Amino acid sequence: MINTSDPPGGSHAFSQHPSRARELDRLRQQVLAAWPMEELWLKRRGLTDGMHVLDVGCGPGFVSEKLARLNPTGVTIGLEPDPELARLAGKRFDAIPGLSLQQGSLAHNHLDESYFDFAYARFVAQHLASPQDEMRHVFRLLKPGGQVVLVDADDGLILVHPEPPELLEVMRLSETIQAESGGDRWIGRKLPALLTQAGFADVGFDVLPFTSHQLGRPALFDLAWSFRLRRIEQASGADNTLLVEKVRDFFTNQNWYGVACVIAAYGVKECVR
Ligand SMILES: C[S@@+](CC[C@H](N)C(=O)[O-])C[C@H]1O[C@@H](n2cnc3c(N)ncnc32)[C@H](O)[C@@H]1O
Repeated sequence: MINTSDPPGGSHAFSQHPSRARELDRLRQQVLAAWPMEELWLKRRGLTDGMHVLDVGCGPGFVSEKLARLNPTGVTIGLEPDPELARLAGKRFDAIPGLSLQQGSLAHNHLDESYFDFAYARFVAQHLASPQDEMRHVFRLLKPGGQVVLVDADDGLILVHPEPPELLEVMRLSETIQAESGGDRWIGRKLPALLTQAGFADVGFDVLPFTSHQLGRPALFDLAWSFRLRRIEQASGADNTLLVEKVRDFFTNQNWYGVACVIAAYGVKECVR
């Protein structure tokens, strides 16, 4: 029997978040900022109405909603292991035709194999303890000919000028904290290889840039740096107060120019003849 309430491990522990309301707001803002570019890109990758679409690790469901609106005559399912996030998403989904929630992880769920035309995993791979194994589950859930798209961050693709001298330490600490709970802040560059190893064909990737000019400084700060400061505060208490304050003060009060890029990787489950 599949136990869909098994926690999957990895580094997105919503129940232990220092401010859950703040994290929900961060996820919402991230969708508002990125969706116009993301929607165009997903359509270019073949997302279209009438499909069976899986939103892997849908969190509170902001993206699933957007996907369902692009797919009004199809089926969109949000898969989410965290009970509280699943409850929030499920409540929102009730009002949207064709959209439903399945509580579970990639490894433990009641989804049908070979059912989906399109699987989207957005900022999920960086939190997985065993991304290689999990990609094999995505492969299993797709129909022959089905497409997968993974979008994720990579700390090597974040630039700011001028750069506060304390930022290097903040990046190092946040990478360590996430790695200690099973995540990987350098996952972006590994996505194409993960898809190839899972058996996908026609694997490729693009880089999607988000600049301070396009989003505004507060939104880019939120997207690329402010969550790190909260994680460091949570993990190290008073030890890093000065470091965190200096960096927060810089991003809030100085003029800076920045860009954070995400990697968008894709592949196809080949039809076997
Ligand atoms: C940063 S959140 C991203 C939420 C959403 N995709 C978005 O972009 O707003 C990562 C999500 O992945 C989920 N997750 C973690 N491990 C998972 C797994 N093994 N299978 C499915 N989802 C998982 C987490 O519970 C969390 O909701």
